Amino acid sequence: MDAGPSPEAEAHALSRHYDELDRQLPVGFDGAYGPLVVPNGNGELPFHRWFHFKEAFSHHLLERVLRDSAIQTRRSITVLDPFLGVGTSLVSADNLGNAQGGVVARGYGIERNPFLASVARCKVESHRSHTPDLRQVKRRALDAVNRGRVDPAPTPGLSTFSNTSYFPRRNLVELLQLRSAIERYSDPGVPRELALLCLAASIEPSSRLRRDGRALRYEAGKEPVPALQEFARRVDVVLADLEGRPTPSRCRVLEGDGRDPQSAGLPNLRADLILFSPPYLNNIDYTEIYKLEAWFVGHLESQAEFREQRRVTLRSHPSVRFPDVYEGRQGVEREVAQVLAPLLDAVPNTKERNWRRRLITGYFDDLLLTLRRYRPLIKPSGRVVYVVGNPVHGTGAHRFVIAADILIGSLAELVGYEVEAVRVARVPARTGATLPFVRESVVFLRPTG
Ligand SMILES: C[S@@+](CC[C@H](N)C(=O)[O-])C[C@H]1O[C@@H](n2cnc3c(N)ncnc32)[C@H](O)[C@@H]1O
Repeated sequence: MDAGPSPEAEAHALSRHYDELDRQLPVGFDGAYGPLVVPNGNGELPFHRWFHFKEAFSHHLLERVLRDSAIQTRRSITVLDPFLGVGTSLVSADNLGNAQGGVVARGYGIERNPFLASVARCKVESHRSHTPDLRQVKRRALDAVNRGRVDPAPTPGLSTFSNTSYFPRRNLVELLQLRSAIERYSDPGVPRELALLCLAASIEPSSRLRRDGRALRYEAGKEPVPALQEFARRVDVVLADLEGRPTPSRCRVLEGDGRDPQSAGLPNLRADLILFSPPYLNNIDYTEIYKLEAWFVGHLESQAEFREQRRVTLRSHPSVRFPDVYEGRQGVEREVAQVLAPLLDAVPNTKERNWRRRLITGYFDDLLLTLRRYRPLIKPSGRVVYVVGNPVHGTGAHRFVIAADILIGSLAELVGYEVEAVRVARVPARTGATLPFVRESVVFLRPTG
């Protein structure tokens, strides 16, 4: 019986495939992008600093991308971001408009996670006129909690909140009192959403948990910050930033599926730039990582909603079994198979083989579908630019790299794009030295035809 190629032969075929794609595409190292694919400096800047999102890109990325592409921004620019996160691209677009007097920056971003969408909406859609109401909510809420005039809201149904090692009792009670007070002293609308954002951003600092890569970790030695103090400080930061906002933003945030701009409610428009960083294929499950905030402020109320929220995200993590639907490759099945086959064949034959192969197939199909659906929304002179990392899967002798930067680029060429540049931004020192193609890149696509 023919046992088929050995694992070594499959691994070898994969690296030959990557070498070939790398040669065919305009790939080059560009160290200037290294600091731009991480949220360097965002924590100190107005608006960007409202919530620390480890997976954001830098506030400087947009500017650099515009400089390095031929997009004209003399009078106006329209930006789209289908995987908006906390809104870095849109806040940067607003700043660009403000900095280069006369440039009108418009934009839309789509985010699936309701908590992250709310963070982005607050940053983009709030304005100076909201400050009196927010100031009043803060004053009344703090006063009510300090005087013990408000009962704590019910503890969310997520068991993490009931663990007193994670949340000192006093901090949890204060957070829950603030939750009730915000509800009582604000009408639904922007000031309430801003106050809830400040409350959500106070949760991790007032606990002994720390977000770390793919998980929330318990740190016995961490000193939790008093919840009331943290909330008050955060509201003051938001108030200061709003006071300094020169003009209302022309950008908008949509909560929905970035893979399907129409169902998300994106109006008919033509963009100069579609700039995004999709979830990487590194098993990070955003629903899990940002679950404390989502449950606490009421975006999630049951395990069924929690599961459903995971199910509607891009197929980049194995937390749920996603449907076996592959719409992106319709009409180009053979070509897609050619691009992905060496990778799928090289997935080691361990008990994880099946889910890894399914995940890889789903991930690239989602990105292909996204690229197809946004193709009619780009101006002929426009660009699509994506930031992506090439993760390592498996352990020990079973490790293999998923070169997402060039694989997505090769797929894009099947559906109306040309890869203009693959700018390799970072190669992680340790893993990158032993495994080629482990890197983060910024890829520029030009529409063709
Ligand atoms: C790498 S992060 C983007 C970070 C963003 N560039 C920023 O600076 O904040 C990827 C985002 O995609 C979101 N996401 C996952 N599935 C999605 C979907 N189907 N539609 C829209 N957004 C989705 C995740 O919740 C996450 O916020």
